[in-house]
Amino acid sequence: MMSENYLRLGVNIDHVATVRNARGGDYPDPLRAAKIAQEAGADGITAHLREDRRHISDADIDGLMEVLSVPLNFEMAATDEMQKIALRHKPHAVCIVPEKREERTTEGGLDVAREENRLAHFIAPLRDVGCRVSIFIAADQRQIEAAHRIGAEVIELHTGAYCDAFAEGREEEAARELASLRDMSTFADSLGLEVHAGHGLTYDTVKPVAAFPEVRELNIGHFLIGESIFLGLTPAIVEMRRLMDEARK
Ligand code: PXP
Repeated sequence: MMSENYLRLGVNIDHVATVRNARGGDYPDPLRAAKIAQEAGADGITAHLREDRRHISDADIDGLMEVLSVPLNFEMAATDEMQKIALRHKPHAVCIVPEKREERTTEGGLDVAREENRLAHFIAPLRDVGCRVSIFIAADQRQIEAAHRIGAEVIELHTGAYCDAFAEGREEEAARELASLRDMSTFADSLGLEVHAGHGLTYDTVKPVAAFPEVRELNIGHFLIGESIFLGLTPAIVEMRRLMDEARK
């Protein structure tokens, strides 16, 4: 049995598709990456079907639903098109993320507080078909309270601000961001929300976040896919897993 303290690792395979799409063929195949990731110890696979399909495609999602033996965490914007796709596939988890066409990646958390009514109606059918609904938000008490009110079971805290500050040597800011992540993990847990975290995590930034006892899952993609160029996907994931387990001791 998995211990109470176990921290799950979701491997995001979007950027295998980014490399494939740079040439327009079938290689490298995100499904193959997903299978290797699950064998290497990923507890779940995460994929973001963006409105512009810049990385993961509809066919990738069809394939993942067929081949995976670990849960799929399907990231999507709160649009009617994406809701239909999610209702058709009924993935284990749906993570609602903000999406802007011009952004390079998911730059901030969702403003749940601003769209509370619409999002409450949007996620209800997803919950009805058995998806675990997660909301990707900044470490902000107002957003956590709103996510709780709309009926989400899970929140994923955006770790991008902490990781960016760390990478750019802004130590005090990184420490402040980390403290907010810690406090808001505790706060969300006290409301009964399951806490996940992710975005921008690397070998250098993962341990302090992995050490927060309320965090149950990390979703990590870009760094792992980048590192796999040098190490191979399996060793890159095994090393991340090792650091997470070490932080958890
Ligand atoms: N979690 C969410 C909700 C995301 O949108 C992303 C990026 O798609 C990640 C985690 C993974 O971020 P990264 O690729 O920077 O590790």
